Order: sequence, then structure tokens, then C-alpha cells
Amino acid sequence: MNLKLKQYLNTPLQIGNRIIKKRLILAPMSGLTHVAFRELVAEYGGHGLLYTEMCSAKNLPHENRHVSPVFRWRDTELSGLVCQIFGSDPAIMADAARRIESEGFFGVDLNFGCSVAAICKRNCGAALLKDPELSVKIVQTVRQAVSIPVLVKFRTGWEDRSDMPVDLARRFEDAGADSLIFHPRVAPDRRSRPPKWKYIALVKQAVSIPVFGNGEVFCKADCEKMFSETGCDGIALGRIAAAMPWIFAQWSDEFMPDADICRRNARQMLFLLHQHFEGKTAIRKFKKMSVYMAAVFKYGHVFAKKICSANDAAGIEAAIDEFFDASPKRAGRPNMNLFR
Ligand SMILES: Cc1cc2nc3c(=O)[nH]c(=O)nc-3n(C[C@H](O)[C@H](O)[C@H](O)COP(=O)(O)O)c2cc1C
Repeated sequence: MNLKLKQYLNTPLQIGNRIIKKRLILAPMSGLTHVAFRELVAEYGGHGLLYTEMCSAKNLPHENRHVSPVFRWRDTELSGLVCQIFGSDPAIMADAARRIESEGFFGVDLNFGCSVAAICKRNCGAALLKDPELSVKIVQTVRQAVSIPVLVKFRTGWEDRSDMPVDLARRFEDAGADSLIFHPRVAPDRRSRPPKWKYIALVKQAVSIPVFGNGEVFCKADCEKMFSETGCDGIALGRIAAAMPWIFAQWSDEFMPDADICRRNARQMLFLLHQHFEGKTAIRKFKKMSVYMAAVFKYGHVFAKKICSANDAAGIEAAIDEFFDASPKRAGRPNMNLFR
């Protein structure tokens, strides 16, 4: 099965007018999938696509890539980079998509899944799932505005009913979406209950465009299980990628992590953050990331606490070394109190 999984992960997949070579992609995560983290993932390789953090469609046409914390990239990653936007006005979403196309991104993704109150109360993110007419109109308008792939990341909706995402998936395909990334959770649920993978199977059966499954794929067995239970075309990895950014290379390529990978990875994350952001921002972003790194260890909360109480890069490096010098034990599954 291992060989078969690897072969499948390396089977090219057509998305709109483009082809990706690998089927594991990075899920968008605000505060985590910044340019420094993506550089770290790219150093290991093995991924099909990378995602930006969500960007405001309204701000995007005026963003300066050298100043914006989210609309920022390395030129070498652009051809495999998807920019995710949130908004609720079809014309504004289309303007943002035009800018994304003109910069040379692989594609644009429409955020119909974020259930954070600040986003939903502006009628963006998952709030749009309450208004299928508007969300379909957004897909249509963006589709007409650009020729790069248009992807849609969405959730089950606001009620736990499989017919809603299935109906939406069909309508998104009809409106011109090139691919769907589906996270089968209802919107009020911020990752507390398990995602219902059987809904991914139903969405996959309903459309002919590629469907990426998403939600709680934390180990190779989960990965195989999601493929076999749902028939999805690819998988978007979220939190586990923040904890172990080499996971794409480990599952898709020949990458074998050694015993000290977590220490080196943490140090490299800190280094890259300082390459891309000024000191205080780099430290703040590292602290956010470290909670996910900690979650894959027994007593990882001790590590997270130490990192969060450090004041500068030297303090963080000392906390990293102190934790890993003690040869911490890995947890079987990530600690869900930290994996929020
Ligand atoms: C800190 C954090 C930030 C997130 N931000 C976004 C976002 O900006 N856009 C989005 O579509 N999903 C966002 N998500 C959801 C993830 O893309 C993904 O759907 C979710 O984490 C489930 O996948 P996982 O179990 O592999 O982590 C975020 C998740 C986390 C943990």
C-alpha cells in the first residue's frame, strides 16, 4: 500500500488549464502559511500546491507585496502558489483575482469556509454558504475575470446535511470552478468534532472537477484511508504540515526524517521568519507556529509554554535546545488541545 500511495501521490492532476505533479497540497491557514513557512515547506518539497494565508479581496488590488504581511511571496514559488481571497462582492473578488493572475500565481481560491466571527459578520467566508446564489455569482464573476484556475474551499454549511455541500459543489462546478477543497465540518464547529469524511465521498461523486479532501489527516494511514473511503483526487494538509512541514516529502518522495529533524526544523523556521519579517513579527509568528510543533510530542505543552514566554530569538533557541536535548517522546496522535 505504501508504494501504491506514493505512486498515487505522484500521479499528475489537471486543474483547469494547468497540471500539478503531486496530489498533497498545503491548506491555507491564516497566521501560519506565510511566505517564511512556505519557504520551509519548499526546502523539503513533495507538495503539489502551496497556499497563501487568506487575503482581503478589497485590499488586494492595492497591496504592496513587500509590505503586506499576507500578500507576499518568493518569485520561485509563484507557479505553484494559490492565493486565497475572502470577500462578498463579486466585482471586488474579480478585481482581486485579476491582480492575482497578473502577478503570475498558479490560481485563485475563494474562501467559503472561514467561520471566524470577524469574517462571517462581514458576510464573508462560511457566511456565504447561507447565500448560495451569491456564492455561485462570485464563482461565475471570478471565472469570467481570469483564465488561471479558480478553486473553491468550502465547508459542509451551517447545518449537518450532506445534500447542501453536494448541491453547492455541483453549482460551483457549473459556475466554472476548476477544483474544490472540501472540509466536511459545519461552520459553527471550529474543529472540535471529527470531520465527516463520508461527505467528501458524496461531493466527489457529484462533480467531475478534482476534489481535494481536507480534515484531520495526521498520519500516512489517515491519508490512505481518506483516499480509499472518499475517492478524492488529492488531500489538503493543514495543521500537520505546520507541525511537520516535511510530511509532503516523507509521504510523496523518499524523504526520511532523522531523529533530530524537529530541532533543525524549528531552528530553520525561526531563521526564515527573520529573513522575511522584522524581529518582533518574526518572534510572534514563531510562537504561533510552535504550538503546532509542540502538539506532536508528549508533554509538548511544556515546550509551547517555554517558547511563548521567551522574549527574543536567543531565548527561543535556548528553549528549542533545552526541549530537544531531553529527547522528548512523540505523541501517537497530535494533542488536540494544542492543535486548535
Ligand atoms: C490556525 C488556522 C488558520 C486557518 N485559516 C484558514 C484560512 O485562512 N482559510 C481557510 O480556508 N481555512 C483556514 N483554516 C482551515 C484549514 O485550512 C483546514 O481546513 C483545517 O485546519 C482542517 O484541516 P487539518 O485537519 O488538516 O488541519 C485554518 C486552520 C487553522 C488551524
